[in-house]
Amino acid sequence: MTTELAIGIDIGGTGIKGAIVDLASGELVSERRKIATPEGGRPADILEASRELLGGFSEAGGDGLPLGVCFPAIVKRGRTLSAANISKEWIGLPAEELFEDALGREIHFINDADAAGYAESRYGAARGAEGLVILTTLGTGIGSAFLYDGVLVPNTELGHIELDGAEAEKRAAYSAKEREDLSWEEWGERLQRFYAHIEFIFSPDLFVVGGGVSKHHEKFLPLLELKTPIVPATHRNNAGILGAASLARREAVATA
Ligand code: BGC
Repeated sequence: MTTELAIGIDIGGTGIKGAIVDLASGELVSERRKIATPEGGRPADILEASRELLGGFSEAGGDGLPLGVCFPAIVKRGRTLSAANISKEWIGLPAEELFEDALGREIHFINDADAAGYAESRYGAARGAEGLVILTTLGTGIGSAFLYDGVLVPNTELGHIELDGAEAEKRAAYSAKEREDLSWEEWGERLQRFYAHIEFIFSPDLFVVGGGVSKHHEKFLPLLELKTPIVPATHRNNAGILGAASLARREAVATA
């Protein structure tokens, strides 16, 4: 069997990361390249930074591979409809087309947390899980992905529900812990409010918690009292890359 490869690029509020992925194993087969998100997160700057990042994969054989790009906004029919931790100039833009023009090739374009959720369901903590899996990423914002029996329901945006008079991500994202210098216990109380509320509304079968901070899961997941099992993501910061790459390959096959 020939190895199936694709490139995933994950655009975040602080960094733009990418790698070539082996889709059978879900492993990165190139170095993971990362550059800082340009200050302000404006369209022209992010497009240019992504072009630079992608160019670095040419030598590793990246040129003809399917390419997936995931992005921290609502993505509907190729348009970015929100912008929480990037420039507001993205709102309403035909972003998929802009990336295709800037990168000189077709891409599969998707929300970052949806990409991460898809990756965890195919290669990670939610593999084989039945019923409703809710993945949340705790980073600059809070991203969410719903998967029902492995099928993604996109653009759920749980980070923007109102909690104690504020948007949930403003109080409970990892950035809030850092900004306000919260202890694990203090942050845990906010997470408890968030997850208990989501649990009551959606009755999920499994919560998966991603984002870089999930490597310290033993510091905060045990503080949570929920009826639903809650587990750390397997791929943490690489999940967006994996999911974007994997969905790009799926689309390339479907349209071939
Ligand atoms: C955005 C989401 C994104 C999440 C994680 C939120 O602020 O609204 O679209 O998935 O941050 O980056």
